[in-house]
Amino acid sequence: MSTDSTRKTILVALGVCLVCSVLVSSAAVGLKGIQDKNRELDKLKNILSAGNISMENADVRQLFKEKIETDIIDLSSGSIIDKKDYTNLLNLETFDIKAMAKNPKYNRTLNAGQDIAQIRQIPKNMVIYWVKEQGIVDKIILPIYGKGLWSTMYGFIALDKDLTTVRGFTFYEHGETPGLGGEVDNPSWKKSWIGKKIIDETGQLKIEVIKDKVDHTEINSVYQVDGLSGATITTRGVNALVRFWLSENGYGPFLDRLKSGELL
Ligand SMILES: Cc1cc2nc3c(=O)[nH]c(=O)nc-3n(C[C@H](O)[C@H](O)[C@H](O)COP(=O)(O)O)c2cc1C
Repeated sequence: MSTDSTRKTILVALGVCLVCSVLVSSAAVGLKGIQDKNRELDKLKNILSAGNISMENADVRQLFKEKIETDIIDLSSGSIIDKKDYTNLLNLETFDIKAMAKNPKYNRTLNAGQDIAQIRQIPKNMVIYWVKEQGIVDKIILPIYGKGLWSTMYGFIALDKDLTTVRGFTFYEHGETPGLGGEVDNPSWKKSWIGKKIIDETGQLKIEVIKDKVDHTEINSVYQVDGLSGATITTRGVNALVRFWLSENGYGPFLDRLKSGELL
């Protein structure tokens, strides 16, 4: 067979494809464990960051263990699940929002009127995070998620023990465009959430992400966060998901129980 025959060219090309595909798939399989661990570590960092806990020179897992306590709650009643009622899926080690939202045993389907965050199904339960100072609750960190333009955005909102003031806000997973919707990761925008009030003195949900910049001379500015410029759809998504999770269909019943002093 001559070295430049068509058959030989095709055989070499197929051989190269085969070797490359074996290399790529072995790398994907081999690195999965590391990627999962890094993803989990990144989530812990985001929880600590939402809780405004300094991670400077710290071992993140150790710091998380020292500073954060976790519980699983029942969203519709707002009660904390007794650890003896945990199951192989409903437990702190393996709790996975995406898996729980898909599992008919553990999910709840939202009707169109309820589904402002465009997520269709939510877990019946959620893991919540307590930040304690000398054994006393200082902040509560709540997982939140909802649709942006391109992706479902997953993050956390931290509330002060007064259950009214935002103490932190962050997303740990989204697929919005860098520089546009991806500005949800902009540190100064995330910081602008701190100090905002979620409800007014009558208890009505007031927090909102507006389309433009907040006018700080306005009386309602304490409930308002700047929209992301050039990213109206992501902005609307963040507004909807925050309002959904803080409403009666999200953490409302849990927050009501906390307000009544039942869980603190
Ligand atoms: C390549 C590309 C990526 C975009 N990414 C986003 C995005 O992540 N979030 C978003 O809300 N809008 C994004 N947009 C813009 C939207 O299509 C839409 O124009 C925008 O949300 C309107 O915002 P504005 O009214 O602030 O201009 C993107 C547009 C293009 C062309």
